[in-house]
Amino acid sequence: MSKYYTFPNNFKWGAAASATQTEGASQQEGKAKNIWDYWFEIEPERFHEGVGPMMTSDFYRQFKDDIQRMKAVHFNSFRTSISWSRLLPDGINVNEKAVDFYNNVFDELLKNDIEPIINLFHFDMPLHLQEKGGWESLEVVEAFNHYAKTAFELFGEKIKRWTTFNEPIVPVEMGYLNHYHYPCVVDMKRAVVVAYHSMLASAKAIKSYRQLNLEGEIGIILNLTPSYPRSDSEGDVKAARIADLFFNRSFLDPSVLGKYPEELIELLRDYDLLPAVNEGDLDLIEDNTVDFLGVNYYQPRRIKEKETQVDSNNLLPESFFDSYIWPERRMNPYRGWEIYEKGIYDIAINIKDNYGNIPWYVAENGMGVEHEERFLDKTGMVQDDYRIEFYEEHLKWLHKGIMEGSNCFGYHVWTFMDNWSWLNAYKNRYGLYRVDLDTQERSLKKSGQWFSQVAEQNGF
Ligand code: BG6
Repeated sequence: MSKYYTFPNNFKWGAAASATQTEGASQQEGKAKNIWDYWFEIEPERFHEGVGPMMTSDFYRQFKDDIQRMKAVHFNSFRTSISWSRLLPDGINVNEKAVDFYNNVFDELLKNDIEPIINLFHFDMPLHLQEKGGWESLEVVEAFNHYAKTAFELFGEKIKRWTTFNEPIVPVEMGYLNHYHYPCVVDMKRAVVVAYHSMLASAKAIKSYRQLNLEGEIGIILNLTPSYPRSDSEGDVKAARIADLFFNRSFLDPSVLGKYPEELIELLRDYDLLPAVNEGDLDLIEDNTVDFLGVNYYQPRRIKEKETQVDSNNLLPESFFDSYIWPERRMNPYRGWEIYEKGIYDIAINIKDNYGNIPWYVAENGMGVEHEERFLDKTGMVQDDYRIEFYEEHLKWLHKGIMEGSNCFGYHVWTFMDNWSWLNAYKNRYGLYRVDLDTQERSLKKSGQWFSQVAEQNGF
């Protein structure tokens, strides 16, 4: 007998995207360079097939038609970001063309009954601010606050749900630990500063938002990676707890509870990693917690105890734990990430039990596929049954979490149409619509048809 999964009334169905990954027009219409524009200019060979952020998916020009495509698949929300370097090219003065563009996008969405959920920072540090130290600099924290205030003042009547950051761990991990994203630093002490300053910047922006007394809510988007220990031995459990502290709770606790976990503070103190904290800043974080949480979920971490001693001259998060291959692991054969649908349920229950059952929504969940053209059928439709199964299984677990009382108000796939990704460019396709990079034409995939029905019927 089949089971029907119905979601709560007014559940938000949509997709997530970000400015740099979709807009294109990256150095046009008054936009200044961000670190991605700059990096592509100096080291294009790092980007998959040499594809940079200039064109991406051309949303800047095609947004009206794209919004009709969203409507066609029954979205009632769309979460994306504003480009900091488009809105404030010199950090201070507003680019009127950007104001027009974002007003037009928001108006068009609202006219079509699609709620815009707008994020402020999605990895796209303006170049001139990176040159001042990026998130390592308190001046940049202030510059972000100015940007946030400007956005709230300009668009706050239209936007009722804001978020400050998307995945603040990513600039930390990729930019300051893994030598992967610009500025490619490997330094745990500097990484901790970047992490702390992003939390400070988020709290300041939240404070500014509330001071404006606008009607709406403000949150943050975190990518939560549940850390599962290999066994229930003390060593494995402790190692998994440390991974959880670094990758999840460093952001989750200050954002939602207003406090850093004691265990994290002690660990950082033991290894002389505590950042400088100015008087009043921890109070600011405590007083400005989020109204809601966005959660991106792709895959969990599988953790075991480290067999070697921590080398304090060469510290990285991985100095404290090792990863291991879970014997029951299932991989996405087309992207190389573990697929573990129950993770979304564990997150739902963790938020309910340990984070005051704060309202939250799935801000990203999706399945990347390399060479997706191999699944095109004769009519030109991508037959992505694997993605339908991926969504269905995650939604079943999410539904269970909601039935058990977790306060989840929406589900956003990554992503609406194939879009450009950081370094990977168009290597991994995720869209409900396929984008032909030569013609910029969009075509609905089978998963898009499926999603359309789910969104229309509020379940499946
Ligand atoms: C998410 C990011 O973590 O992963 C997105 O928020 C990104 O911006 C997505 O595009 C997919 O990444 P990738 O490397 O598979 O293209």
